[in-house]
Amino acid sequence: MSTQIKTLSALADSDALRGKRVFIRSDLNVPLQDGKISEDTRVRASVPAIRMALDAGAAVMVTSHLGRPTEGEFSERDSLAPVAQRLSELLGMPVELRRNWLDGVVVEPGQVVLLENCRCNVGEKKNNLELAQKMAALCDVYVNDAFGTAHRAEATTEGIARYAPVACAGPLLQAELEALGRALHEPKRPLVAIVGGAKVSTKLSILQALADKVDQLVVGGGIANTFMLASGLPIGKSLAEPAQVDEAKAVIELMKQRGAEVPVPMDVVCATHFAEDAPASTKAADQVTAEDMILDVGPQTAEQIADIIRQAGTVVWNGPLGVFEFPAFAHGTEVLAKAIAESDAFSIAGGGDTLAAIARFGIAEQVGYISTGGGAFLEFLEGKRLPAVAVLQDRA
Ligand code: 3PG
Repeated sequence: MSTQIKTLSALADSDALRGKRVFIRSDLNVPLQDGKISEDTRVRASVPAIRMALDAGAAVMVTSHLGRPTEGEFSERDSLAPVAQRLSELLGMPVELRRNWLDGVVVEPGQVVLLENCRCNVGEKKNNLELAQKMAALCDVYVNDAFGTAHRAEATTEGIARYAPVACAGPLLQAELEALGRALHEPKRPLVAIVGGAKVSTKLSILQALADKVDQLVVGGGIANTFMLASGLPIGKSLAEPAQVDEAKAVIELMKQRGAEVPVPMDVVCATHFAEDAPASTKAADQVTAEDMILDVGPQTAEQIADIIRQAGTVVWNGPLGVFEFPAFAHGTEVLAKAIAESDAFSIAGGGDTLAAIARFGIAEQVGYISTGGGAFLEFLEGKRLPAVAVLQDRA
């Protein structure tokens, strides 16, 4: 797919960036705790594009959103200041943060400036035409390197790409499209998808799309609870969405028609309340009582899932199997993570919780490709056209 897109690396190689004003849209939307970055993967992943443009002699402007601020109402909480500091450390050079940048940005070749949270500009979310044109006028070359936001048609991800003199993909966006495309469009079989986590309703459409492609679909977390409900199993007071049971049944049916299956947990780890120190009890899936809250898959289920991974040719992982942040309920996700680490399959993983699990179990080096996308990763898997990528294809 990415071969049809203009790339920053090709422009850099042909010396087309020297003295040019390059505007990079990155995804620097990182988690903050007490004003400090708690996980900086996205900042680190954005450095190669910036470096590439600087080394090629460009004057570099970088922007990103941070959170979901109210447009036109800037507050310090929305500021990219911590990101500017981290970027400056990673690049080993000053990275000035500029506010009110729409009417012009002074930046010299060899210099990089960070343009304050683009979602504070009125019209960003709705992909306002005038805003997009105004931003396009700031640069000679627009670079989209924000895979994590590629599923959003916003002024800095879509509109600007239509009006900038040149529009291209940065190395991170390129790498994401290549790795994910390989896993989805030409996978070594069996292709196994693991979809876990709490957000059942937001992931059911992805489950439906995957049910059409994958050889095994493993569900975990709140999603697995809804599938247990759909299979007639008791789930007590566990997190689930009873309104989605019919959809879950449809996914099970779709897989069945293709001779595949959605394994439903055979054992689970429960507590009576949601707390790190809540006593954990392992029980067969049909023995869950009204007082129980399922917080992890049981050891037999974990072993069954590990076995599926051992036989896989390609593994796509999004979402933990249980509440892995609590040691008593981390076993299922840990077994899964280790099985992925030890497997010969090409594995790709994405999503905030999944990245946290990968870090927790120390398997980052053994995962084939770790995506910086959350929603974008899922929409790509769903087979949807990502607007920020589509516009680059149109321009090419
Ligand atoms: C993400 O964290 O998934 C991306 O940065 C997109 O953020 P959004 O869901 O607020 O658009």
